[in-house]
Amino acid sequence: MAEACRIYVTRPISDAARVRLCDACSDIKINPERRTLTRDELIRSLRHRDAVIAFLTDKIDAEVIERAETLRVIANCAVGFDNIDVRAATARGIVVTNTPDVLTDATADLAWMLLMAIARRIVEADRFVRSGQFRGWEPDLMLGADVSGKTLGVIGAGRVGSAFAKRSMGFGMRVVYVNPEPSESLERDLDARRVDLETALGEADFVSLHVPLTAETRHLISRDRIALMKPTAYLVNTSRGPVVDEAALVDALRARRIAGAALDVFELEPDLAAGLADLDNVVLAPHIGSATTGTRTRMIMLAADNVFAAMRGEVPHNIVNPEALLKRDEPTAATRSDACPPG
Ligand code: GLV
Repeated sequence: MAEACRIYVTRPISDAARVRLCDACSDIKINPERRTLTRDELIRSLRHRDAVIAFLTDKIDAEVIERAETLRVIANCAVGFDNIDVRAATARGIVVTNTPDVLTDATADLAWMLLMAIARRIVEADRFVRSGQFRGWEPDLMLGADVSGKTLGVIGAGRVGSAFAKRSMGFGMRVVYVNPEPSESLERDLDARRVDLETALGEADFVSLHVPLTAETRHLISRDRIALMKPTAYLVNTSRGPVVDEAALVDALRARRIAGAALDVFELEPDLAAGLADLDNVVLAPHIGSATTGTRTRMIMLAADNVFAAMRGEVPHNIVNPEALLKRDEPTAATRSDACPPG
């Protein structure tokens, strides 16, 4: 029997996910359009809803939260939750959850692929062949950088950063990492060395970013810090665009101050900093870190489980603001409709 709860889902979802939601919850509304809702649409859609399953393009700020008077749960379908004003949600007793773990491998894989792609110029090489420029093997054609035996700088050794670092094992790399806490497993398994950011930037041949976006990490990779990188080094970013000063990065890439960059995220996504797309020492991907069929399915199922747990009055496994529970009133009574919206 479906519980009485009113959920809004801000993007179309798979049939399997829709059926799972409908089995567990009486009243589901799903945005049928393949686009982000406008701010007004979002505010309107959250009216009289107990829970929202949101995605990282939904800006759930203090005003949206204030206008969503009945909202009790925001289940973000992403590991990052910088799109949500968690403080405003907490003040209202609204539980916020994310979807860690299920996307760790997919995201670490993509970061590793981007590293390989920029080091060995694979996207540039593909364009070269397709455009008919390949006239036969040449001794100095498309020379790239060695990966094996080089130094890897991992900025942020949480789940994804650690999984990314462990992928270096087959490449005999030296690993330095930056993290508030020492990582016992990285030090034991990889003989990794914890260093400060400046040291990592100065020593690494490949720098990969795995930090959440917060006030402290915005422009963490600033113009001055890019200047610390070796001229032969590469930057990989699969975390959040604003962690890097993208205009400064473009300047550094253009001047060959660093060798290259591979980016899955952008400062003003989906817009790119002026000049970025004209450079051939970058590989650009459209924020697809977790974009495998299996991972995205697991993410939406996990977001749904988080909603159900919160609506049952349990503490969801992936709660990011447990303090919100202290502010809670009695559960909102929802109206049953038992209607599963069409896919
Ligand atoms: C993707 O960027 C995520 O935070 O899950």
